[in-house]
Amino acid sequence: MVTGVAGFIGSNLAEAMLARGYEVVGVDNLSQGDLLNIESFRQHERFCFHQADVCDEAAMLELSAGCDVVVHLAAYKIPRYSDALDTLRVNAHGSESILKAAVAHKFKFVAASTSDVYGKNPQVPFSEDSALVMGNPDVRRWAYAISKMFEEQMAFAYHERYGVDVVMLRFFGGYGPNQNLTWWGGPQSVFINKALDDETIPIHGDGQQTRSFTYVSDHVDGILRAVEKPEANNHYFNIGNTYEITILDLARLIWRLVRGEDSVPKIEMIPYESFGKYEDVRRRIPDITKAQALLGFQPQVDLETGLRQTILWQIERRRLLAARSAFVG
Ligand SMILES: NC(=O)c1ccc[n+]([C@@H]2O[C@H](COP(=O)([O-])OP(=O)(O)OC[C@H]3O[C@@H](n4cnc5c(N)ncnc54)[C@H](O)[C@@H]3O)[C@@H](O)[C@H]2O)c1
Repeated sequence: MVTGVAGFIGSNLAEAMLARGYEVVGVDNLSQGDLLNIESFRQHERFCFHQADVCDEAAMLELSAGCDVVVHLAAYKIPRYSDALDTLRVNAHGSESILKAAVAHKFKFVAASTSDVYGKNPQVPFSEDSALVMGNPDVRRWAYAISKMFEEQMAFAYHERYGVDVVMLRFFGGYGPNQNLTWWGGPQSVFINKALDDETIPIHGDGQQTRSFTYVSDHVDGILRAVEKPEANNHYFNIGNTYEITILDLARLIWRLVRGEDSVPKIEMIPYESFGKYEDVRRRIPDITKAQALLGFQPQVDLETGLRQTILWQIERRRLLAARSAFVG
């Protein structure tokens, strides 16, 4: 079973699992996901989609019966899209509902955590033993990282008490086909849209904050290794690309790939104060030694190659969305 199957990573994962011969039960409440993401395999004979909420314990118990593994990806990511309460509730309650089903059905629980759990720790690269440094409760961005830390703790507590096999994967900045086209999908989604429209790219802060972007096929590869390898059981891993880039350089790179070498990028810095009380993460790079050693994980797609593929996909997705809204209109 894959929860969050109509989202970005979930849809790519389900497609890869079907290609490997799995039977896949897909669950999503469609709060952020889109059926377009699963359209290419919705009718596959080994796929079954259920529109359901992961917080609905009875539904999760029923739908996961007979599953060997549940990859739990459904989550509420960015608090500023609603409020911190949705993030805390969906991520805590939804995860426990799947863990309760894991006790009943004895399946393996593989779940998404995030690089955000390293928070304000200035010492990069982050290994799994690095300190998790959070901010104060009146900065709502930390609700996301804290909800995922809670999920990690809960998974290991379920392992301790009930013997459920659990794996927690700390993903670093995913991008690629089926990414959400707003900030929900990450800065690259918004920057590609702006460059395609020849509009100014908004950058939060001074643009010198860094990230490590991971092409979605590499995230999917990490998940499949966690699913299939018993060596992964009851561990947590960084899953990401180790290439570090400033957000300003990401904007310039995307502009060049979309509009050509000679075009001068249009970029505007937006002060953090415009988000209310906000704290950013200055640098973010994974140390993936543990995933390399135990899972044989090694990212394959470099940023420029991945962005070229993502841009082509995004052009096509915008065409489909425009056609859909013209039809609805
Ligand atoms: N994309 C990344 O770069 C990244 C980085 C770190 C962690 N993660 C984690 O990986 C997971 C997948 O991320 P994504 O980028 O694919 O997100 P996404 O928002 O594209 O997909 C999540 C899906 O979950 C669904 N969902 C949300 N709440 C639900 C609920 N209560 N019941 C059922 N479905 C629900 C949404 O409709 C959506 O389709 C998330 O847990 C996220 O926190 C992602």
